[in-house]
Amino acid sequence: MSANAPAVVPVGPSLSMYDPIYLGIDEFGEPVYLNLVYRNLLAGGEPGGGKSGLLNAVAAHAALSVDTRLVLLDGKLVELGLWADVADEFVGPDITHALTVLRRLQTVMNNRYAWLRAHGRRKIAPGDGMSVITAIIDEIAFYSATVGTKPEQEEFVALLRDLVARGRAAGIPVVAATQRPSFDIIPTSLRDLFGYRAAFRCTTPNTSNIVLGHGWAEQGYTATDIAPTNQGAAYLIAEGGTPRRIKVAYLSDTQIQAIADYAAWVRRPTTSSRLDWEVAG
Ligand SMILES: Nc1ncnc2c1ncn2[C@@H]1O[C@H](COP(=O)(O)OP(=O)(O)OP(=O)(O)O)[C@@H](O)[C@H]1O
Ligand SMILES: [Mg+2]
Repeated sequence: MSANAPAVVPVGPSLSMYDPIYLGIDEFGEPVYLNLVYRNLLAGGEPGGGKSGLLNAVAAHAALSVDTRLVLLDGKLVELGLWADVADEFVGPDITHALTVLRRLQTVMNNRYAWLRAHGRRKIAPGDGMSVITAIIDEIAFYSATVGTKPEQEEFVALLRDLVARGRAAGIPVVAATQRPSFDIIPTSLRDLFGYRAAFRCTTPNTSNIVLGHGWAEQGYTATDIAPTNQGAAYLIAEGGTPRRIKVAYLSDTQIQAIADYAAWVRRPTTSSRLDWEVAG
């Protein structure tokens, strides 16, 4: 292999969104996995802390999962942009597009609930013939406070809240990032719906508490103790648990390109005529 050969990506043929997602390591060097499919994940913390890095780790797993479809919203275009080819929808800095996509997701979610009810079931499971739809948003404040009119921003928050509240059982997990998870960006009622929360470096214990939940800083769990140079380090809390210090496995642009290429190939359309031709040929 030549010195400038593309990075080798050690992946299996494909993954499932029902598999635990590898996020990185904890402070003891043990691997950290997340079962995302019936949950949601919120990443908060100051600029440059590593939130987009975490979103990309999840996006990589989702891209390689043939049983999931990706819906990506990225106000900066470049954070999740490398996954655009494997996503069903890629929304850039366009609130109208964002609203259209969220409304469609809401319709899909309603249809799935109708299906579940008709089958006397409470949640989507593997084998139901329905893909998991992984929605990734980087960053919420861009759509809830920066672009668009006030009514558009309010509709965005309302649709997002509905998705986060009801999407889990319908197989639509939401992963979102925000620099400041304060009430003007994400209402507390919305924030509390995220079962997993990751606090990257914060400047005040109060901001850290806003991400992790009230009172954790006082108990010694505060993202203010993460050094500014320790990008990708965070406190991760799962519903009902204790915050755990993690370091996210960072994917370089080259690695993301390689994984996205591979994922696009795994997801390539295969038609029956092509198969017929192969059998015949
Ligand atoms: N897990 C990691 N390990 C090593 N370096 C990292 C890690 N995560 C991020 N970095 C470095 O920190 C930089 C900023 O990370 P990232 O873009 O994820 O921050 P962010 O929290 O999304 O910032 P912003 O709020 O500005 O979007 C990256 O370009 C990378 O150089
Ligand atoms: Mg970012």
